[in-house]
Formats: sequence, C-alpha cells, structure tokens
Amino acid sequence: MTFIHINNLTKRFGGNLAPAVNQVSFSINKGEIVSLLGPSGCGKTTALRMIAGFENPCEGTIQIDKEYIVSESSVTPAEKRGIGMVFQEHALFPHMTVAKNIMFGLKHMKRSQKIQRVKEMLELVELEDYAESVPSRLSGGQQQRVAIARALAPRPHVILLDEPFSNIDAGLREKMRYDISAILKKANATAIIVTHDQKDAFAVADKIVVMKEGMIQQVSTPKELYRCPSNCFVAQFVGKTNLLQGIVDSTGTGIETSVGTFDQMPAVLQSPHSKVMLSIRPENISVSETGRYSGFVDRIVYGGDSQEIHLTAEGHRGLAPTPLLINAPISFDIEVNEQVRFDISSNDITVIE
Ligand SMILES: Nc1ncnc2c1ncn2[C@@H]1O[C@H](COP(=O)(O)OP(=O)(O)O)[C@@H](O)[C@H]1O
Ligand SMILES: [Mg+2]
Repeated sequence: MTFIHINNLTKRFGGNLAPAVNQVSFSINKGEIVSLLGPSGCGKTTALRMIAGFENPCEGTIQIDKEYIVSESSVTPAEKRGIGMVFQEHALFPHMTVAKNIMFGLKHMKRSQKIQRVKEMLELVELEDYAESVPSRLSGGQQQRVAIARALAPRPHVILLDEPFSNIDAGLREKMRYDISAILKKANATAIIVTHDQKDAFAVADKIVVMKEGMIQQVSTPKELYRCPSNCFVAQFVGKTNLLQGIVDSTGTGIETSVGTFDQMPAVLQSPHSKVMLSIRPENISVSETGRYSGFVDRIVYGGDSQEIHLTAEGHRGLAPTPLLINAPISFDIEVNEQVRFDISSNDITVIE
C-alpha cells in the first residue's frame, strides 16, 4: 500500500535555469527502502530537502499516510512532518554522549520513557557499550549508526539519508551497506536513501528511482533496472553494458546489427525496418568455439574470477566493426589479437529504445 506519495515535485533555483528537480513523481510503501540514484548534481539532495521541509517546492505535492504535507495551498513545517534525517556528515553533537545524542530528538516523553527508548535504539544499532562515550571516540561507521539511531528514536514516518556511505572508507562500505539495511529492516522503517553509487543502491534498496538532470529516468527494483533498463543512460549507469544500434528485419522478429543478426527476439514491438537500440550485458555474451559471431581481441583485463575481453566484432554485411565487451570465465584461454567466437542468446538482449 502506498504510504508516501510524491507528485510532480519541481524546484527551480534561478529564473531561466533548468529546474534542479523536474516533475518528480514516485510512491513508497510502508517499510520500503527506496534509493534516489543519479550522478552528482542531478537533484537528489534538493528532492530530499523538499521532502524533509528544508526547501519549498515550486510545484508539486507530497502526501504521507494520505495527509498532505505539501499541497497546492499549504506547507507543513519541517519539524511537524514526522521525518527523521541523517545528514552526510552525521552532524552529531560532539560534546554530548552517544546516549544524549540519541535522546536529543525525544520530546514530549516522560524521562523514564526516554531512557527506555534510548536503550532500545542502542540495542538496535549494537552500541550498548558506547552509551556514555562521546562521538569522537567512535569510528566513522559507529558514528553513522548513532546518527541513524538518533533519527529513528522519535519513530518518524520516514527516515531520509543523504549519501550515508560517502564518508566511509572503501573497505568498510560493504559492511556499512549491510548494517544500514539490516538496521532499517529490523526497525521496519520506511526510508529514502540518496546515493550517486549504483552499488550502494543495489545493496540496500527495495526500489530504485534513477534520476538525471532533475528528471526521473526509471523506477524499478534493482533486478529489473539491471535487466530491463528503460534507456541508454540507465543501462550505462547501472553496470557495464554494450549498446548496439539495430534495425528490425522484414519479419519483425529479428534485428540486424553490425555484430550480426539476432533472430527470434522475444519481444520486438517495433515495426519492420524501424531503428532500435539494444543493451547486452557483458556477462550475457558467451565465448564458444562454435559461436555464431566473431571478433578480434584488443585488450584483456583480468579480474579475480573472470576476465573482461575487449574486442572488435567483425562488421556484419558491410557495417563498421564494433567494439564489444565480454565477461568470460577465467578458465577461457585467449590472447590479444586472436580471434574469438561468441554467442548471444536473444533472451539476454534488451531492446531499450
Ligand atoms: N541553494 C541552491 N541555490 C542554487 N542552486 C542550487 C541550490 N542547491 C542546489 N542547486 C543546484 O541544483 C542542482 C541539483 O543539486 P543537488 O540537489 O545538490 O544535486 P545532487 O544531490 O544530486 O548532487 C545543481 O545544479 C545545484 O547546483
Ligand atoms: Mg547531493
């Protein structure tokens, strides 16, 4: 059931500038973790600040639990929205203990209730032993967990996190992603997490909202986003891919490309002879001695358990040769300049435009 509904949210900072956030609409279910994902400057923080109430939208509405916190005619102040916020720099009070930091947001409660709630939050983020420490004694990841505990303590309708992984060392990020999603799920929190990193979003989100230049590109589960990107930007932003132009053949079921013909495409909706764009993930191209398509290896990049083979596919029917990337098992023996044959199953090709 839709819990938060954001409709046509728009923000312009300057008169003639393109809007920083442009007619953004999406919904969030209760207990769902949604990630706003996009490159730096695409409007993620501005969108989050409008939801939090730190910035007024030029247009659009926001509903939480059916109530308008931003409507055509009224705007609920930030502190009355029931929203928890975790800022990029954690923003803990340095002179207060961890317990006092968490207690800070608890108003209108008896002291005994406050103490009980702080205890619950310390358990949730597994920092019971640090209740009386000041934040500077804690690691970055621990401070992060205090900030989340503080935001969750007043039981907000939704918690907003802006780039929560950006100040965390690369080596700790994976653990932090796991910790944050585990904490949010355990607390049954509804959350919006802003990030520019595809890996963050894929690791923590139930649903991803991809943004570019203020506009939503796609709203999907991580799996769907990866498998069926709705345009070239999304295809390239979430993982590596091969983009190929093609022309639908006269039967309407095959596609001609510079790499070769792909027959029996499962869902080519375009009419014969129309131009299409195809996305083929490198791991969906299989090397094989009897492969139908071929090319010559330009470069090989070894990963731990696989190798990236950069090749130039031989031009099909007079079309220009095309660079391709294949992700092959490390056991496959091949050298630079050698010919490589490969197959692509039509099920693994996504027609994106
Ligand atoms: N207070 C502001 N005044 C003017 N322009 C702003 C302001 N805040 C953000 N912007 C502009 O809005 C765009 C989106 O910024 P932001 O929401 O911070 O992007 P992101 O968080 O995705 O990196 C950028 O072009 C930025 O320069
Ligand atoms: Mg930002």
